[in-house]
Amino acid sequence: MVAELVAVLDWYRAMGVDEATGDVPIDWLQRGDGAPGKGFERPSPAALSTPPEPAVARAAPTAAVHPTSRPAPAIPAPRQFPATAPDAAVMAARTAARQAADLDELGARLAAFDGCSLKATAKNLCFYRGTPQASLMLIGEAPGREEDLEGKPFVGRAGQLLDRMLAAIGLSERDAHITNIVYWRPPGNRTPAPQEAQVCRPFLERQIELVAPTLIVLLGGAAAKHLFGVADGIMRIRGKWRELEIGGNKARALATLHPAYLLRTPAAKRLAWRDLLMIKTALGD
Ligand code: URA
Repeated sequence: MVAELVAVLDWYRAMGVDEATGDVPIDWLQRGDGAPGKGFERPSPAALSTPPEPAVARAAPTAAVHPTSRPAPAIPAPRQFPATAPDAAVMAARTAARQAADLDELGARLAAFDGCSLKATAKNLCFYRGTPQASLMLIGEAPGREEDLEGKPFVGRAGQLLDRMLAAIGLSERDAHITNIVYWRPPGNRTPAPQEAQVCRPFLERQIELVAPTLIVLLGGAAAKHLFGVADGIMRIRGKWRELEIGGNKARALATLHPAYLLRTPAAKRLAWRDLLMIKTALGD
């Protein structure tokens, strides 16, 4: 029996279910035609402070088995998560992002934005880390587990490698603005869907305008494909400067290998090193 339960947990973890987000199950199939995330509710702190009934007591609620049994905790009322159609969500994102006068306001508007379904399963918004205005802006794929817990991009193992890569060319987060193409962790660390990146894009574009970088480095294939609008693999795209004109900002942009890929494939570090030297040279120009 225990071995079977352990096998089920192993299977969940392999499928990316590595986090308990509530004490009561949510039937996602009940949402009908609503947007993903519609009706999602994280249990309130009050609900969490009531210990859940042991499963066995719920299965056989007889006085003899469980004399002090309380009623099962009420399933919390669904959080009102608007069922926004994809186009309407992008338009709402555009309106919200355009009105942000500075990064603080953009962050506040992002925090209030419900049009990206990733928000429903993430713990925290991951906006940026580093310096608000920087000549160098680094854009990755999506927050992972550590980032989700801390509410900041690139703070896990890949982020630590990124910091070492920056240090190798004499830089730190004080010299760079670091963010992602989506601001919430995709469940199970999957690659964000194009629609998820698209709905975040107006915020990213406004962020680029406000940061006003002269150099943009795209970390990995997902960020490079999304911002360069190409379908080629990262090995073909990387290591070549391009022009990236976004909003009112014109910058030189370079795609390089994602630090998470470099952790898995140390032999590729020599390619990343070449790209880093290109960045160093460009910053000195
Ligand atoms: N990988 C990313 O692309 N972004 C992060 O913030 C962390 C890991």
